[in-house]
Amino acid sequence: MTSVSFAGPGDEPIVLDVATPAAQVRVPTTRRYLMCPPAYFTVEYSINPWMDPTQPISTSLAMEQWTALKETYERLGHVVETIDPQPGLPDMVFSANSGTVIDGQVLGSRFRAPQRAAEADHFRRWFLANGYRDVVMPERTNEAEGDLVWTGRYLLAGTGFRTDPLAHSEAQEVLGVPVISLQLTDPRYYHLDVALFVLDDDLVAYYPDAFSPGSQRVLRRLFPDAVIATAEDAACLGLNGVSDGRHVVLPVEATALADQVARRGFEPVFVDISELRKSGGGPKCCTMELRG
Ligand code: ARG
Repeated sequence: MTSVSFAGPGDEPIVLDVATPAAQVRVPTTRRYLMCPPAYFTVEYSINPWMDPTQPISTSLAMEQWTALKETYERLGHVVETIDPQPGLPDMVFSANSGTVIDGQVLGSRFRAPQRAAEADHFRRWFLANGYRDVVMPERTNEAEGDLVWTGRYLLAGTGFRTDPLAHSEAQEVLGVPVISLQLTDPRYYHLDVALFVLDDDLVAYYPDAFSPGSQRVLRRLFPDAVIATAEDAACLGLNGVSDGRHVVLPVEATALADQVARRGFEPVFVDISELRKSGGGPKCCTMELRG
């Protein structure tokens, strides 16, 4: 037993027992994900600073890395649904951008870039064909889980590069969840899900420099115990992680972040996403969560 003592008001010191903090046991929950194989993946236009259409891209390597990510989820006990990829939509692999699903209610997407616009309707049709009845398509530009991050309590909503701030109130109305708007300021971290991810209900990891000063204060207020990522963690898209409450899927380069989450009782699981990163995407971008 550990104790601390300090001088009391009389002669007797006050002795307090301090419980040794037990290593926190993190419990995973089974998830359902929607993924899209990168059969037509390439970088032929540039809509974020990661995308350089002149660099060589290997679609087969992207497919290998994506398959390993899918198999990682399955090995962890999660269910992975897939949607058919479409020729001419090279970014369709980033399924997180095409829907936000909470309690079975679907809010679809509306892309900012015309090159991605057609993805939204493929996903809308997938939802309808797969038993979803409440499917609402947004009026405002809304890149779904790219910018809308459900913590289990709040919907954190990014804006600055892609999702229209007016889409935030639209999401609140459609999904019936409290929305917290956050301002993104660094073009490399153009979506909220490359600057922040949820480890567990009240715990997030984020890279403060990706946010405006006011949004940094909001995050500190909401998540005083958050894992604070380094510039290196952010630069390999380490904040694009996927947690099931215990296992945290991270790009293999995110070593400092992995170390921090391990010290919080989580189990890092590494994947190589180097080819998909050439388009500005990581594990979470390839993974839409189907909740309820
Ligand atoms: N090339 C894609 C784009 O710029 C990458 C999307 C990444 N997805 C995400 N959820 N951050 O739209």
